[in-house]
Amino acid sequence: MSFAGKNAVVTGGLGFIGSNLARRLLEEGARVTVVDSLAPKCGANRHNLADVLDRIRLEEADLCGRLRIGPLLEGADFVFNLAGRISHLDSMTAPFEDLAINGQAHLSLLEEIRGRCPLATVVYASTRQLYGPPRYLPVDEAHPVSPVDINGVHKFSAEQYHLLFARHYGLRACALRLTNTYGPRQALSHPRFGFVGWFINRALTGQPIELFGDGAYLRDLNHVDDVVQAFLLAAGAEACAGRVFNLSGPRASLEHIAQVLAKTGGGCPVVKVEYPAQLRKLEIGDYYGSSEAFASVTGWRANPDWVGDLARTVEWFRGRLHHYLPAEGGR
Ligand SMILES: NC(=O)c1ccc[n+]([C@@H]2O[C@H](COP(=O)([O-])OP(=O)(O)OC[C@H]3O[C@@H](n4cnc5c(N)ncnc54)[C@H](O)[C@@H]3O)[C@@H](O)[C@H]2O)c1
Repeated sequence: MSFAGKNAVVTGGLGFIGSNLARRLLEEGARVTVVDSLAPKCGANRHNLADVLDRIRLEEADLCGRLRIGPLLEGADFVFNLAGRISHLDSMTAPFEDLAINGQAHLSLLEEIRGRCPLATVVYASTRQLYGPPRYLPVDEAHPVSPVDINGVHKFSAEQYHLLFARHYGLRACALRLTNTYGPRQALSHPRFGFVGWFINRALTGQPIELFGDGAYLRDLNHVDDVVQAFLLAAGAEACAGRVFNLSGPRASLEHIAQVLAKTGGGCPVVKVEYPAQLRKLEIGDYYGSSEAFASVTGWRANPDWVGDLARTVEWFRGRLHHYLPAEGGR
């Protein structure tokens, strides 16, 4: 699949994964429009695209505002829908904000896509969070959906809107269920942006990495370059339309990940603390998924060298920390 000369819209493109995808699309020769609202408590960061702004059309707009979003979609060949809020805890304390960002915004976008660019290919960033505590491992796409938080419910609804529009209107839409993703340009300033970014923050600022409980739970994780590659492959594979796929990666215990980051960052301590009660209820236990279905359609595989990828990520952030630690975009 060639993206050269194609019109690609990336929602959430000032955020972590969206900005990496927008940059890759530029490299592939696409004409890129980024739509981002710089939503509070999200990972939007102007530095993520600052050096390519002369080659990207950046629109600061909320997907819920259909009057502004509609015209941006005219002529789009691809819509990569990465707008969202990833915090599980915030979704419990501000459920209606989560509904607007992770639910309503996507129905609004799809309604505009249907009218403005019905032939576009759409790829949505869903999440493994919607499975809830695994009933078996590795978790495949047939696993029951039983989220432990509001975020998981709303992400599932947005994913299902995409699939419904595929079935009902023939939209070429699919969804990728992402697992913990890390890499350059991720937000580090708060634990709400995920444990890997928070551990990198602690490791590079020489503060203790706190593990809740014994740190033995397993997680799988993906470098953002692999995730970006998966979005491009999904957009290019006709067989992906109307389907949902896991993007699973290499797995390790939380303690192992913490120790690797502590060592790479310069030797901060790793300490075990009691599990905070409000987070305990959102804990899903061991999780790792299977992406065999996606591999069979696209050939995609995650890089197994997560230790090397984490080390390269830490090195990328050294010297750039000042762009990623202060509050930005309402954080
Ligand atoms: N990062 C992960 O580990 C992970 C894991 C599973 C799923 N995901 C999903 O991938 C997507 C991207 O994640 P990320 O880590 O890059 O998040 P991020 O917070 O860095 O980026 C999301 C971007 O979306 C923007 N946004 C939010 N609501 C918007 C709206 N209504 N209109 C326009 N822009 C809006 C934010 O301003 C932000 O820049 C999200 O949908 C997330 O749920 C991420």
